[in-house]
Amino acid sequence: MNIGLIGSGGREHALCKSISNSRLAKRIICFPGNAGTAKIATNINVNVLNFKKVLKLINFYKIDLVIVGPEEPLVKGIVDFLRKNKIKVFGPNKFASKLEGSKAFMKKLCAQNKIPTAKFKICNDKKQVTHFLKRCNFPLVVKADGLAAGKGVTICKSKDEVIDVASEILKGKFKSSKKLILEEFLDGEEASYFLIVDNNNFKFFGSAQDHKRVYENDKGPNTGGMGAYSPAPIIDKKMEKKVISKIVLPTLQALKIKKKPYSGFLYVGLMIKNNEPYLIEYNVRMGDPECQVILPRLKTDFLKIINKAVMNKLGQTQIKWKKLKSMTIVLCSKGYPGKYIKNKNISIKHIKLSKNDYLFHAGTKFNDNNLVNSGGRVLNITSTGKNFLKIRKKIISIIKKINWKHGFYRKDIGWKVIK
Ligand code: AMP
Ligand code: GLY
Repeated sequence: MNIGLIGSGGREHALCKSISNSRLAKRIICFPGNAGTAKIATNINVNVLNFKKVLKLINFYKIDLVIVGPEEPLVKGIVDFLRKNKIKVFGPNKFASKLEGSKAFMKKLCAQNKIPTAKFKICNDKKQVTHFLKRCNFPLVVKADGLAAGKGVTICKSKDEVIDVASEILKGKFKSSKKLILEEFLDGEEASYFLIVDNNNFKFFGSAQDHKRVYENDKGPNTGGMGAYSPAPIIDKKMEKKVISKIVLPTLQALKIKKKPYSGFLYVGLMIKNNEPYLIEYNVRMGDPECQVILPRLKTDFLKIINKAVMNKLGQTQIKWKKLKSMTIVLCSKGYPGKYIKNKNISIKHIKLSKNDYLFHAGTKFNDNNLVNSGGRVLNITSTGKNFLKIRKKIISIIKKINWKHGFYRKDIGWKVIK
């Protein structure tokens, strides 16, 4: 099969690598890909939100199956558009993608279906915010309704802070929506649980714990993710049962009733408090960097699984996992998630990886023949093994060899599982 892969991050390099390892893959075209995918696929530079242009390219390259990595094209309806044009595509439809695209939609769905989640209030104007503030506890979580590239959530400690953050959202700071959600702060342990879903079935697709704060000891502003490990030990069999019965099944059923069944990867963002799971967020895609830490543990042919899902035959597929632990550390540009310098050379030619190690590119590109950074999260170094401490040491030794003076990384990834 010829595969079209949409996206350009570390997640897409990991997806591309797994696709390229499949016996079913003939040619891979990445729209637009990065310097890592360029080595194993053909990168085509296109704005992936220009669906008509993407369709033209899909037809030109005789692509048999399209896999969508990031949320924005999904939320904007790329799957519906391609399906209408008779293209086979893996990912959720536009309606179902509102699980990530609108937090108000997600929270209403939770309320209607008794799905455990933080108590909330959806606000459309300042009056509703100030009214709510008359009797609420702190900290209070303020969330932008629409997509916000990981910057839409603020944990506020005072009324003034809530009013400041809310005013910015209501004024349109995030172009995707002017609504906001005020939400009870849940004090617990976060974990991410992944599923692959088709119209008839769903299967477990790994668990992981991400590290969102930029600095060690979980300090500093939120980022897209500084590192992750898999599996997440907090999601044991008992917890998994609760997550499925209390959260996943009612969600999938609610979308089926609306005749908009979910299909694609489903990222269930959880807060676990007093041994009970609460839904913090849904993402309608694999996580980044969770994908880079989960896929190296997959034993079954990745493309075979995706192909079965697209045919709604996931029920016939057995997904097997290696009995290995996995960790990834993100090498970032100094200054991220704030301002950082781009186009700085990175040298990785001298890096020799063993079969348990992976180097996924995220914000990289080639300037002439030189590898340079084009984003804030630059490289993901993943390693697998039996012991998280040893894995982390291995990753750090690779990062030290890369020795990129414009970069930084967290040395404490996995602190919860490394005592
Ligand atoms: P989200 O974009 O909804 O995943 O939120 C980003 C991060 O904010 C989450 O990963 C949590 O660390 C934190 N967060 C979001 N909602 C809550 C909540 N209700 N209580 C505590 N922390 C939260
Ligand atoms: N790592 C968090 C996310 O992908 O949303």
